[in-house]
Amino acid sequence: MVILKLPEEIERARASNKIVAEVLSKLRDKVKPGVTTGELDKFAELLTEKRGAKPAFKGYRGYPHSLCTSVNEEVVHGMPSARVLQEGDIVGLDFGVFYKGFFGDAAITLPVGKISPGAMKLIEVTQQSLYVGIEQIKEGNRLGDISGSVQQTVEAAGFSVVRDFVGHGIGRNLHEEPQIPNYGKRGRGIELRSGMILAIEPMVNQGEYKVKILQDCWTVVTEDGKLSAHFEHTVAITDNGPDILSELN
Ligand code: MF3
Ligand code: CO
Repeated sequence: MVILKLPEEIERARASNKIVAEVLSKLRDKVKPGVTTGELDKFAELLTEKRGAKPAFKGYRGYPHSLCTSVNEEVVHGMPSARVLQEGDIVGLDFGVFYKGFFGDAAITLPVGKISPGAMKLIEVTQQSLYVGIEQIKEGNRLGDISGSVQQTVEAAGFSVVRDFVGHGIGRNLHEEPQIPNYGKRGRGIELRSGMILAIEPMVNQGEYKVKILQDCWTVVTEDGKLSAHFEHTVAITDNGPDILSELN
């Protein structure tokens, strides 16, 4: 069942997502060669605590950290550690909080120092596909309009969309219905309605779309070892179209 939110509930979700956006924008300034992914995790926790919120991922299905840090061929759910980020790496930062009854969730992928043009293009196309998907969010459109437009954008650029992980509804729970694949056919699926809050999160591979999960039971990597990027926004559907609750400043 898809849970529709009242305007005052959307305002609460906005407050949660504002914290997520603030934390991600502060993390963005920390990402440089030499920083460890574990340091980024600790910093995110500190900032969240300061704002009176709780990290959403910590303890979720046993996930032991607050932030997901996915480096290079890691797609999503990479775990913070003593790993030092190197010039030329790309790193996905996925972060969520719980605040006053509502969840916020967003992700960005960043270059570490100077990166290759191919890696930069992957990041740009992934972010662009997220915004193309968001543009499809209006009453009367269907879920497949989001999925199909993300897939078209990604494949037109010569990249592939991950199938095994999807976006999701969000609100009083981190994951609610509907599931939001990043591939599919326009015009299919449930109708988009004002009051829905959706987390759209394209995961885009430089090579083949296939992924596998490492022995740690969390880290998702590309099967072919090529790069992957991830962007996510939490978006409310209003009578006037999409309202991006997790927009970074
Ligand atoms: N943004 C991801 C999601 O919505 C983060 C989940 S990581 C987990 O699924 F650790 F919480 F599972
Ligand atoms: Co999510």
